[in-house]
Amino acid sequence: MQKIKVALVGVGNCASAFVQGLRYYSSFEGEEDCIGLRNLFLGGFHPRDIQIVAAFDIDNRKVGRDLAEAIFAPPNNTLKLADVPQTNVTVHKGPLLDGVGEYTKNIIQVSSLPEVNVAAVLKESGTEIVLNLLPSGAVKASQWYAEQALSAGCAFVNATPAFIASDAAWAKRFEEAELPLVGDDLIDQVGATTLHKTLLKLLSMHGVRITETYQLDVGGGTESLDTLERTRNVKRTVKTKSVEAALPYKADVVAGSMDYVDFLQNRRDSYFWIKGLYFCKVPMQIDLRLSTVDAPNAGSALFDVIRAVKIALNRKLKGVILQISAYAFKHPPQLMPIETAEKMFADFIRGNA
Ligand SMILES: NC(=O)c1ccc[n+]([C@@H]2O[C@H](COP(=O)([O-])OP(=O)(O)OC[C@H]3O[C@@H](n4cnc5c(N)ncnc54)[C@H](O)[C@@H]3O)[C@@H](O)[C@H]2O)c1
Repeated sequence: MQKIKVALVGVGNCASAFVQGLRYYSSFEGEEDCIGLRNLFLGGFHPRDIQIVAAFDIDNRKVGRDLAEAIFAPPNNTLKLADVPQTNVTVHKGPLLDGVGEYTKNIIQVSSLPEVNVAAVLKESGTEIVLNLLPSGAVKASQWYAEQALSAGCAFVNATPAFIASDAAWAKRFEEAELPLVGDDLIDQVGATTLHKTLLKLLSMHGVRITETYQLDVGGGTESLDTLERTRNVKRTVKTKSVEAALPYKADVVAGSMDYVDFLQNRRDSYFWIKGLYFCKVPMQIDLRLSTVDAPNAGSALFDVIRAVKIALNRKLKGVILQISAYAFKHPPQLMPIETAEKMFADFIRGNA
């Protein structure tokens, strides 16, 4: 089987879980033993076919080190999932741009090593797919890396909420360069927004009139701190709209608002409150908490996305690949019901789309 050559942009918590997961699942052969992964094989590809060939960061505890060490360097604080042997991939220094915000500047130690020529590293390493895992507020840096992918002839996966795949101008540029582009903002495997919408749909389908509902998050990773400063309002608007759309009538809805609690480490607690009226206006309420660890929540979807983008490359597809973007991202260029996105993705993998 061909290898899928990937470059990581940002060696934070999400990258750590991704790299550890590649090791963790490398020796699994049977779908039934493979707990926690949606697809052990996808389009014939196994996770062990994914090979990290380059990595970029700006923190001096990561730059210059082997990727196997850098993924465990602070301020990364996600779980240890697997022992990762030496990778022989050294983390390179990229340009800082807006990678560090006001709230994270005391947590991140910017390396003083010289920046590499990123496009040249991508070409030399044979990178096929650039996976963008920068902080959510790093919009300029995300765009800069999309430029590097274009000049090095690589596909681009935008796991961050920066608008790239959902921006018509970027979509056109990747189409003209005959390269695949997917995004934006990856959907978690155990996603609070998906759970919230599913609960609301189920209740309203059964005739319950929801009167008010909210979903609030608290988390302790660097990403939660960055979100608090730079993307909290955007996330709240996008998620509130998405949750409102799950109800066939108007209700008081707030979703996706969040706060930072340092001692939680990479854990995230999501609180759901739902109040409604059922038969003869008798009141009901749901008050629940979902507890997850953030970074491993991205692993299964990232494995699917990388393998699906490789399929797109093999088929010489170009521009935004809607079948992948709608399946695995919260803000694709076109929103659609989960069932439609799932079917489109399955058809795409089978080669029917
Ligand atoms: N479950 C998930 O973890 C999940 C789900 C959906 C989306 N995402 C998105 O993935 C992204 C990464 O999340 P995370 O938790 O790993 O964040 P993180 O803060 O742990 O990691 C970000 C990394 O980027 C590095 N960085 C900052 N500026 C840089 C630059 N200019 N060049 C290169 N590296 C730079 C930081 O040093 C850090 O290592 C975020 O945008 C997040 O919204 C994550």
